[in-house]
Amino acid sequence: MKVLNFGSLNLDYTYQVETILIPGETQASKSREIFCGGKGLNQSIALAKAGVPVYHAGMIGEEGEILLETCRENGVNTEFIRKIDGPSGHTIIQVDKNGQNCILLYGGANRSITREFVDEVLAAFDSGDIILLQNEINELPYIIDRAYEKKMMIFLNPSPYDHGLDSCDLSKISLFLVNEIEGYQITGEKEPEKILEKMKRLYPGAKLLLTLGGEGSVYQDETGIYRQGIYRVKAADTTAAGDTFTGYFISSVIDGLPVQEGLDLAARASAIAVSRPGASASIPLREEVLNSSLSCV
Ligand code: RIB
Repeated sequence: MKVLNFGSLNLDYTYQVETILIPGETQASKSREIFCGGKGLNQSIALAKAGVPVYHAGMIGEEGEILLETCRENGVNTEFIRKIDGPSGHTIIQVDKNGQNCILLYGGANRSITREFVDEVLAAFDSGDIILLQNEINELPYIIDRAYEKKMMIFLNPSPYDHGLDSCDLSKISLFLVNEIEGYQITGEKEPEKILEKMKRLYPGAKLLLTLGGEGSVYQDETGIYRQGIYRVKAADTTAAGDTFTGYFISSVIDGLPVQEGLDLAARASAIAVSRPGASASIPLREEVLNSSLSCV
């Protein structure tokens, strides 16, 4: 079974601020760093660091060579990353003194996916292979339809959620990885229990991983519902914490770990990511996660 992540690659321009800006405000930042990120790239690197061989497919622009290099250095297969004329995807990220962030996204090359490119990439994958998707690239409905035709298992992290997702046939998804807000956007329900119920009703064949911030996470499949708390750390930067959780949880599914063990592994990995600055740079290696002494709340 092969794993393909068809997703974004972004340059994250990350600014340390006292407080996240309000409309009309001007504030001097304390620092600026440029990190490699993008939900796609972060999740590929999380998978690779967790020990899963992963192919990343996506587009970078003229200044995006470092995104390709970073994937390569972290053990991600980059044969399906293409370079185009024009700018790479990038973000402007503010991180406040509590490690909270807000992100302004510019799609750039991530929005240049063509159907020909999708067909070319998917030709290298077969029935039973996994395809992981987020919502930072174009042609998502087409990718889902083609991957489903090939009988691939489709894992979707519909983030950031927008109405473009309304054109996707979500009944083709095998595993949803959503946070509370995305859960609400899909189901119209705010309470975690109601989100679980409604997702089961809407997509009875799908498994669901619902992350709940400080309240931990819940996983639902045909065998039941499993809950996990968080590991408390001093937050430096929450960017990519969700991507780390996603990558590590999927690695546990691939490795056939019991669900509770997989949730625990993912919670530890994302806590370590929160304690460090940057996106992909903050993602720990599996060995570090396994040797970490964190306490669960
Ligand atoms: O999930 C975090 C990521 O979201 C950042 O790396 C940024 O690029 C945005 O896509």
